[in-house]
Amino acid sequence: MPTGVHTSALSLRIGFALESARERTLRALAPLSHEDLTIQPTPILSPLVWDLAHIGHQEELWLLRTLHDERPTERRFDDIYNACEHERSERSALGLLEPAEAYDYVAHVRERVFRRLPGERFTDEEPLRRGGYAYHMVIQHEHQHNETMLQALQIRDDLVHPLAELWRPARVEGRPAAVRLDAGEFTMGSDDAGWAYDNEQPAHARRVGAYAIDSHPVTNRDYVRFVEAGGYADRGLWSEAGLEWLDAEGEGHPMYWRRSPAGWSRVRFGRVEALPPDEPVQHVCFHEAEAYARWAGARLPTEAEWERAVPRLSYVGQVWEWTSSSFEPYPGFHAFPYEGYSAVFFGTGRYRVLRGGSWATHGKVGRHTFRNWDLPIRRQIFAGLRLAHDV
Ligand SMILES: [Fe+2]
Repeated sequence: MPTGVHTSALSLRIGFALESARERTLRALAPLSHEDLTIQPTPILSPLVWDLAHIGHQEELWLLRTLHDERPTERRFDDIYNACEHERSERSALGLLEPAEAYDYVAHVRERVFRRLPGERFTDEEPLRRGGYAYHMVIQHEHQHNETMLQALQIRDDLVHPLAELWRPARVEGRPAAVRLDAGEFTMGSDDAGWAYDNEQPAHARRVGAYAIDSHPVTNRDYVRFVEAGGYADRGLWSEAGLEWLDAEGEGHPMYWRRSPAGWSRVRFGRVEALPPDEPVQHVCFHEAEAYARWAGARLPTEAEWERAVPRLSYVGQVWEWTSSSFEPYPGFHAFPYEGYSAVFFGTGRYRVLRGGSWATHGKVGRHTFRNWDLPIRRQIFAGLRLAHDV
């Protein structure tokens, strides 16, 4: 990155973090063909070339246009690359940039950002500049889309990716112990003005009753027992919404699993392999997580229980973990810097919170206060569960 008399330690760190997010994006996309980049892999995910140009558009919007009043590259990008304007299922029909154009666009935006960065003043008076906030938001955004792009690669079971060996959760070693926590108050959320998203703020006191929570997430070995015990056929284990999902989809095991006379296998980034018993289970939806917990005589933790227990949990950051909580604002929430990130999802009761982070979640995002959320039927997420227990 450029250096100069105005380069502060923070702008240096930001420059490196921007570069490392971009390297990650390009590493994942470089082996892909024009067709791999442009097809709509499924109605629930975007064509990869949309994600790529959308990453550049957000960067231009916040770091060039909002912070520095620069003019937009093309006005129409504000429509086609706005995630709030178009469902993922329609995005391939929007007249998107071609892959070569999208690569050029994101590189050009980045070049302009790097011209601005050395002279940037991270003044406390402007919330978007305080602690590097807008830059950190853009860095996190690129990493979050990297994870979404990995979901899109995984869902293409005909696409073998050369980096696939790197893309798996760590094994769970040892047996889970139920960790008991007494009733008490803790500080939930974050006041980190440089990094925290609006939905993590403000930090506030939260009281939680006594409970226990497993030190480890549920493994494939555990989950096979549930499947083989007839968990998907035992209707008493499923909520009403869960039964609706089950009846509509006719599923009998997690997404990407296959059953053969030789045992369980799974498809992972285009390759079939034996199901590793010691990995945390992935690709279950909220309804499956909830039914498993009921079968195991346990329940899902609330997000407050999850966050409070973090210092005592193992294997956090290998799979997202479904919680029983709906996605709602913390007391004192205010939308920043725009309504579209979190606020429009509150109050609908449609979304469940996931906590932790997966093997595909970058460290700039995977913090213990980070809140992810999705519809309870979604399975393409690298998500599993951890059990909580009443005491
Ligand atoms: Fe986005």
